[in-house]
Amino acid sequence: MTYSEFLGRVRGADLGGVENLVTLESVDSTNKFARQLLEELPDGQRLAPTLILAYGQTAGMGRQQRIWTSAEGQGLYCSLLWSLSDPEEVTMLPLSVGVGICAALRRAGVSAGIKWPNDILVGGAKVAGVLIELPALRQRPQPVAIIGFGVNTSTDRETLEGLGATSVDHESGQDQDPVGLLSLLLDEVVEELANPDRREDLRVRYRELLTHEVGDQLRWRQGGADWSGRFVGLDRHGRLRVDTSEGERLIAAGDIIEP
Ligand code: BTN
Repeated sequence: MTYSEFLGRVRGADLGGVENLVTLESVDSTNKFARQLLEELPDGQRLAPTLILAYGQTAGMGRQQRIWTSAEGQGLYCSLLWSLSDPEEVTMLPLSVGVGICAALRRAGVSAGIKWPNDILVGGAKVAGVLIELPALRQRPQPVAIIGFGVNTSTDRETLEGLGATSVDHESGQDQDPVGLLSLLLDEVVEELANPDRREDLRVRYRELLTHEVGDQLRWRQGGADWSGRFVGLDRHGRLRVDTSEGERLIAAGDIIEP
């Protein structure tokens, strides 16, 4: 699909609760663009849900300073600007977004799961990733989160193999309509974010999607050192509980290196 076809389809699509849409043929990073946009907006007004959507990115950013490969027309590259209503919503954001993305991919026939905190995997290979930023300190009247997510839709096999990743088309065995998939993603993610009721059983739903089993040996990096221990579960904030030789540790941020 060319950019002009993509643009035409996006303009006619149901984008869930998104009220403002910015579409870009190419940008360094939609998260970076979103940050700049926020800085330029006047304070004092509640920002309606705003989506920055790119056809390609030249410097897509992953978590932990990684690069997110973002070839034109081969993936969905989005940042959703979302006004936060209460402090609990902030804690729950990674869980809500991960669960919403998995639900959308499952509706598209891809049995996605979550590697903590919110890498979206199919059969151990990454199909989507989430980068949430809280440029918190501008309160507007409400703080705004930048929820960046990238989904490999029709990424070519060579690129996927080099990254140890996978794509929606490959996993579902068909050429999916990327704009239809975008609608599903926004529908599910916005549904999770907009309804505080959905938070009641969110931890349970997130836990069901996690690829880690109780007792799994995990290795992770924290404070410049590598740690290992057995996965015990999650606490009420979605932090990992891990049993190490020095007792139980809670991991709030970081990266699981293994498995
Ligand atoms: C990760 O898994 O490390 C997170 C990847 C997040 C990638 C998306 S693509 C759209 C948005 N813009 C970026 O630069 N990054 C996120």
